[in-house]
Amino acid sequence: MLQQQDLMEKIVSLCKRRGFIFQSSEIYGGLASTWDYGPLGAELKRNLKEAWWRSNVFERDDIEGLDASILMHPSVWMASGHVSSFEDTLVDCKSCKKRFKIEYIGSKNKCPECGGEITAARQFSLMLKTHIGPVEEAGSLTYLRPETAQGIFVNFQNVVNSTRRKIPFGIAQIGKSFRNEVTTGNYTFRSREFEQMEIEFFVKPGTDEEWYAIWVDERFDWYTRFGMKKENLRKRRHEKTELAHYAKACTDIEYQFPFGWSELEGIANRTDFDLKQHMKLSGQTLEYFDDETKERYVPYVIEPSGGIDRSILAFLVDSYKEEKVRDEKRVSLSLHKKLAPIKAAVLPLLRNRPDIVELAKTLADDLRKERKVMYDDTASIGRLYRRQDEIGTPYCITVDVDSLTDRKVTVRDRDTMAQDRVEAANVKRYLADRLQ
Ligand code: GAP
Repeated sequence: MLQQQDLMEKIVSLCKRRGFIFQSSEIYGGLASTWDYGPLGAELKRNLKEAWWRSNVFERDDIEGLDASILMHPSVWMASGHVSSFEDTLVDCKSCKKRFKIEYIGSKNKCPECGGEITAARQFSLMLKTHIGPVEEAGSLTYLRPETAQGIFVNFQNVVNSTRRKIPFGIAQIGKSFRNEVTTGNYTFRSREFEQMEIEFFVKPGTDEEWYAIWVDERFDWYTRFGMKKENLRKRRHEKTELAHYAKACTDIEYQFPFGWSELEGIANRTDFDLKQHMKLSGQTLEYFDDETKERYVPYVIEPSGGIDRSILAFLVDSYKEEKVRDEKRVSLSLHKKLAPIKAAVLPLLRNRPDIVELAKTLADDLRKERKVMYDDTASIGRLYRRQDEIGTPYCITVDVDSLTDRKVTVRDRDTMAQDRVEAANVKRYLADRLQ
């Protein structure tokens, strides 16, 4: 059994060594709590977004997609309440100099780590400021969005008008968000720049609680559908005191990370708070007219809001496996096939045989037209398998001496390690059938 601390260290080391995640600006000593996705991380991230988009925007008939700007009119953030209330209350320890959110300070009012005296509480805004235009003055101030949601709210009427959607329906968006997080740590879990996958689902007031319950289950199931172990997931309903300023109810889907149960996604009942606020500050109506019942109302909103980076971390942790195979340690990532960064690797059994190498390269070139496929001949076959297992490649295809005459190759399954002898000409179909 892997110790949880070890597991986290192993994931961080694997991610760096194999090119999933690097520290941002590493050659300059790094920039705290910002991360870069390397070649494999970039693929994993694309696959995760694709999986989410497909499940919500393609497979459902009640959600439209959107891609709004990161920069928005500063009034948006006045209306949303972020300028006035998106902040952390923090204290510093006068002895060890560590900084804590006020909620982590117990009734003793001492540093939770060293017991030292703490400073008075101070407010820190989580909004990252920027200026638009050449002159930095008050009028040019705006913010990098701290959530993608507001881009959806301000486009609600545009989407209704352009798609003729009827309520209930949702708008989905994936994009970067920025928060000047003061208490960071736990690798990519709390970053200053991160990506969100959010849906604002507009419903008729009075049906909101029903839709809220539907979405909590729907989102929980989504993670298990992509292979996350059910026992590592749980739902946690927020206490009234925990709720964000806009929410009437919220349930977190939490994952059992090596550092403890922590939020992966939140499903909130945002009521009509945001649309009403935008009506107030913009002077525009964001009411919906139901032409069947002739009713006019401001819709309520159910918001499933997940983090791409946290999901990636959870999927990596969840799929990491160490086992003994023929007295050797085997490390593998049992990532869902849709998420795996490389779908297949073509490996020649003898790299000093030009005829075998040529056949393998030709096969890899052909397979590459359809999916991300790797060719590797830089080590012995045992080593090549281990390399692919460690990054979660579902299929390894070996080309051997017999392949030259029978035109067949061996396809090895990552999870069962079963091997199939397949006609080289049929490998494309073989993969297509199994990677669906
Ligand atoms: N629009 C609602 C909203 O933004 P949130 O709970 O603050 O709600 C939603 O964020 C999700 O975004 C979280 O569940 C998490 O997955 C992700 N997230 C939030 N802050 C993050 C951070 N600093 N680093 C990485 N992911 C973050």
